Amino acid sequence: MRIDILTLFPEVALAPLGESIIKRAREAGIVEVRAHNLRDWARDKHRRTDDYLCGGGQGMLLLPGPLFDAIGELRGPDTRVILMTPQGRPFKQAVARELAATRHLLLVCGHYEGVDHRVIEQLVDLELSIGDYVLTNGAIAAAVVTDAIVRLLPGALGDERSPEDESFSDPQLLEAPAYTKPADFRGLKVPEVLLSGHHARIAEWKRRKALERTRANRPDLLDG
Ligand code: ADE
Repeated sequence: MRIDILTLFPEVALAPLGESIIKRAREAGIVEVRAHNLRDWARDKHRRTDDYLCGGGQGMLLLPGPLFDAIGELRGPDTRVILMTPQGRPFKQAVARELAATRHLLLVCGHYEGVDHRVIEQLVDLELSIGDYVLTNGAIAAAVVTDAIVRLLPGALGDERSPEDESFSDPQLLEAPAYTKPADFRGLKVPEVLLSGHHARIAEWKRRKALERTRANRPDLLDG
């Protein structure tokens, strides 16, 4: 798989993707990740990439010219062009799974107030939001989306771990609380059932705790 990120801040997008699991997946050739500086497609001598809003309003908008040129150059016949924006569809595990089956993604990062709408109408296949809050920089969102997708690619987590065995593989329920050693930490005990070796009782306990936790933290998941 290949993921290209188009942004004014390539270092911001790449920084979290150069460590640990994603770094190893890239080194193993499971995914090729590249970040491109939109300013390289700027047209004037000031290398301008943004301008004021037509009709007034606060802030600046990314110009269509550099984006049309850059996307035209970076996309191929199999590319899905995705715009990172708080106005986008919510990014969920199911979307990550769907995108992990794509051959080539081009993640376009908004900045300031966003991008000229002609870019969205003409070039963007999907607008994606990572949550109901506004970041200073879409490159952070692109790194989040890339991380969530790459860890799903076969071999990325190594042989022994499965990305299916966790919260949001079952979107109705969060994971149960988890403990490691020691069994007694400053008087704080690991629940006895987890040390019992009784698999059926452990499974029942985990199910109950998962439900409690979901009710407390994400009651919306239990609606309907
Ligand atoms: N750019 C700024 N905020 C964002 C968000 N919440 N999701 C995606 N891109 C963004």
